[in-house]
Amino acid sequence: MRLHNQVAIVTGAASGIGRACALRFAEEGARVVVADINGSELDATVGLIRAAGGEAVAVCSDISKEEDARRISQAAVDSFGGLDILVNNAADFTTFSVEDASMENWQRVLGINVIGTAMVAKYAIAHIKARGGGSIVNVASTSGVLAQHNFATYNSSKGAILTMTRCMALDLAPANIRVNSVSPGCVITTATEREWIRMGLTREEWTVSAAEEHMMKRVGEAHEVANAVLFFASSEASFITAANLMVDGGRSAW
Ligand SMILES: NC(=O)c1ccc[n+]([C@@H]2O[C@H](COP(=O)([O-])OP(=O)(O)OC[C@H]3O[C@@H](n4cnc5c(N)ncnc54)[C@H](O)[C@@H]3O)[C@@H](O)[C@H]2O)c1
Repeated sequence: MRLHNQVAIVTGAASGIGRACALRFAEEGARVVVADINGSELDATVGLIRAAGGEAVAVCSDISKEEDARRISQAAVDSFGGLDILVNNAADFTTFSVEDASMENWQRVLGINVIGTAMVAKYAIAHIKARGGGSIVNVASTSGVLAQHNFATYNSSKGAILTMTRCMALDLAPANIRVNSVSPGCVITTATEREWIRMGLTREEWTVSAAEEHMMKRVGEAHEVANAVLFFASSEASFITAANLMVDGGRSAW
């Protein structure tokens, strides 16, 4: 098992990519603290992990609130005695052009995706240092490097995650903490479901149109992203830090 004896936090674990990461980590032997603002679906994630024989605890939390961010790491210490791995996956999907976005739109998306991510990491770092090192994986996006119509708010937040990842990697290398990011292409989750409803498309119509943007002519699945996150989290990536891995079926390369 690749994460035997490891304790991991996964934020945004009530659905989609975060739930897939939490399940995959538990399969590989990690004890997992799952965090999300959606308490009922978060409990469902814990139920799935326990039903498969794994260990998990839920922390219902809003990562844009500093006290909630602190509670997530504290739960790892209280429930499992420490912390080795943090997956910063929770995100808001506020998408507007600069012309249309209000101050509230910017404060929401940056408050969750950038400042919330930073606050969760801030409180996790001390505990990972106490173990003598570990791994942090930030979930960015192809949107962090691509221009898309009316996505300036969300894409700016993901660009910030890519830069924050490299800065964290530099600051934390002396503490033996590796920091990397994965950048998914289009993956079917509750987030993309909201997107096709917003666009007035059916799931089938959205999937066909989104698939066209990828070299592989299909969209991704959450478990395919989870496998990349697992790689960075595990000792198989022991000499990799400050890296960003595109998990995007070639979307960003053409
Ligand atoms: N699905 C895609 O196509 C895609 C593509 C690229 C990147 N991503 C990234 O993958 C990650 C996961 O997205 P997903 O597609 O699984 O979406 P999702 O909506 O299924 O999951 C996101 C989770 O984050 C939680 N969340 C939102 N705001 C929160 C807050 N303030 N505090 C705590 N939890 C909060 C939500 O409740 C939700 O469970 C995000 O970082 C997203 O930007 C997704």
